[in-house]
Amino acid sequence: MKIAFFDSGIGGLSVLHHAMNILPNEEFIFYADEDNVPYGTKTQEQVLGYVAEAFKFLVAQDVGAIVIACNTATSAAVRAMREKYSLPIVGMEPAIKRALDLFPARKVLVTATEITITGEKLQALIDRLNARELAELRALSELVEFAERMEFNSAAVENYLREEFSAYDFSEFSSVVLGCTHFNYFKDTMRKILPAHIKFLDGNEGTLNQLIRLAGLVKSEKWKVESDFFTLATNHQPLITYYYSGRKVTSAKELARLEKYLQRLDEMYLI
Ligand code: DGL
Repeated sequence: MKIAFFDSGIGGLSVLHHAMNILPNEEFIFYADEDNVPYGTKTQEQVLGYVAEAFKFLVAQDVGAIVIACNTATSAAVRAMREKYSLPIVGMEPAIKRALDLFPARKVLVTATEITITGEKLQALIDRLNARELAELRALSELVEFAERMEFNSAAVENYLREEFSAYDFSEFSSVVLGCTHFNYFKDTMRKILPAHIKFLDGNEGTLNQLIRLAGLVKSEKWKVESDFFTLATNHQPLITYYYSGRKVTSAKELARLEKYLQRLDEMYLI
């Protein structure tokens, strides 16, 4: 089955990268809305418009399911897309539940874009989890632009993160939730700044489990995340077609750019 992964930019590759490991025999489309990235600092209405355009394109590609590999687009548009289309649509949400299941009664720092942080969807999730006291929220919108420029561990990135994290006493926290798919590229830089006990949690596993359930797929048995034997995703080379805002990516330069992101994700995978 052909499965589409959609993001404002290259953040969604972190979800696709995990899918390459656990679903190595599927065919994928990856759609990055490079004309309109970043979404996180735009209005809800603008993002809804961008997502509607992308969906029009993707449903015409005869895909069996669409993964919105973007917390911001999910927050602004998943409900409208589900009302409009009947194919399985899987969204993402910050992994707060996972953080609290793993570390009950410890604080969690939820990082995401401005839209996700202020959006109703996240507020409703926090209420549902009864996590007002435990979930601290921080928008790290600038990381999206750093990631798009392939700037992951420069002094500017490090200074930005040091400044943003200086507001917290991390001895009270168990984890940092990466509530934006662009943030997975910065785990090594965050690791450098934060105390060693802080875990990084993203929504990739939960999102793909939901995809597997809805689309009736089967997870590869060879894959085990903590195993010494797991193969890096970039070695699998499953069939992927890339699009930037509806234009097929064919130039060797752009394909090499995407490959570099996947290699970076290989490095970040077990941090
Ligand atoms: N990657 C997206 C997310 O997961 C949003 C990045 C952006 O365009 O601001 O939230």
